[in-house]
Amino acid sequence: MAAAGSGARAGHENWSSRSAFILAAVGSAVGLGNMWRFPAEAGENGGGAFVLFYIFCVLLIGLPVLLSEVLIGRHGQANAPESVRRLARDSKASEGWSVLASMGVFAAFLILSFYCVVGGWVVYYIGVFASDLFQTGLSGGAFQGRDPEEIKALMPGLFADGTLMAGLNLGFLGVTMFFVARGVSSGIEWVAVYLMPLFFVLFLAITIYGAFTGNFAEAVAYLFTFDFSKLTGEVMLAAVGQAFFSLSLGVAGMMTYGAYANRDTNLGETSGIIAGADTAVALLAGLAIFPIVFAAGLSTNAGPGLMFESLPIAFQQMPFGSAIGLAFFVMIFFAALTSSVSLLEAPTAYVFEKFKLARPVATIIVGAGAAVLGVLSALSFNDLAEFYPLGFIPLFAETNFFDTLDGVTAKLFMPIGAILTCIFVGWIADARLIDSENGLDGALHKLWRALVRFVCPIVLAVILFVGLTS
Ligand code: PFF
Repeated sequence: MAAAGSGARAGHENWSSRSAFILAAVGSAVGLGNMWRFPAEAGENGGGAFVLFYIFCVLLIGLPVLLSEVLIGRHGQANAPESVRRLARDSKASEGWSVLASMGVFAAFLILSFYCVVGGWVVYYIGVFASDLFQTGLSGGAFQGRDPEEIKALMPGLFADGTLMAGLNLGFLGVTMFFVARGVSSGIEWVAVYLMPLFFVLFLAITIYGAFTGNFAEAVAYLFTFDFSKLTGEVMLAAVGQAFFSLSLGVAGMMTYGAYANRDTNLGETSGIIAGADTAVALLAGLAIFPIVFAAGLSTNAGPGLMFESLPIAFQQMPFGSAIGLAFFVMIFFAALTSSVSLLEAPTAYVFEKFKLARPVATIIVGAGAAVLGVLSALSFNDLAEFYPLGFIPLFAETNFFDTLDGVTAKLFMPIGAILTCIFVGWIADARLIDSENGLDGALHKLWRALVRFVCPIVLAVILFVGLTS
């Protein structure tokens, strides 16, 4: 195990270096949220209005909350609820504040369950491209001689097959469990340190290709033309939810990773790097996917299927299409795995520390629960398509199990968790303790404090209210 930094509590694991922490946190942030959810949300919520409000949310809300979360974790050096409890105790405040992190741990568990379903879709496409490469060889585009309609039908074909989807979901969850069970340095850190650099190389290559070959100008106009009339309460709530989802906030994930950070890591600076990298990948993913969507004449509001339906068509027209397609989905797999690992780590760390279990045992307990919910999510595209668990609430009317979990976590748990985190860090916790952790000084420190105390909770409460009531 890596050497613990000064100040780490006995028996607690640590990242082996600052760059390992950054890679793991960026690995948590960059994932399906950037490549799959961001373009789909932007497409369904009016493009530019959503995107610009999203950037606003990242800078003014996401970044301050991110720093607050890693700071709580680093101070506590424990699972998320215990870290909040320790900071509360050290600040002579009520330990009841730990409920904000308990809610987060539960939300991370819910997200994990449907995240692995989408991870399973990625595995399916890896299989599709691998077999195509095997059949057609390296030269020429993917799926030679096949009609684009047939390629587009791959996704609905998968959606119709509940058993296959449930199986792929369990496979993806199993791989996630394997790495979490191995622990911080030989599992979680290993995945991030080896897979994230590979991800970035593949990602840049594919983005540059998209920019040169697709309908780039139309995509830029679509993503960056700000039309005020499209900025409704619902769009704002969707944007803030996406910012949290993408930065892994409001669900104890970043608190858990912050707990493994050494004392000499500057958390302010590190948070800036994490948020910057995550936002750059989201925007570049939009700029890679929409040119292809426009060039192929596909609809922007295809929702969850957007990335999975549009890109295989593009790979058909590309030289070395099957190999590039395979590389693309392998790259998404890496990004998704580094995120699902963090989603599983938050509840697992809680369970094994709280109940004094061995890490692998806790991993299996949490993983088994996520498997059950994941199968229900997988079936919500077929056998359980008409099952609307929260159908009595207007915001979730006619929303299947999968979309309900996604909506409840991003639109309720994450903003509420973040509001409570801001109140706790900005008003309740001892300011001297907070200042000894945040790595900020001067004007930046004042700005961060003002954002955490006033701007974030107020803006979030207003958006939550408007989004839920409109
Ligand atoms: N940020 C991840 C993504 O964009 O795919 C999803 C995620 C990971 C959310 C970890 C929350 C979390 F704790």
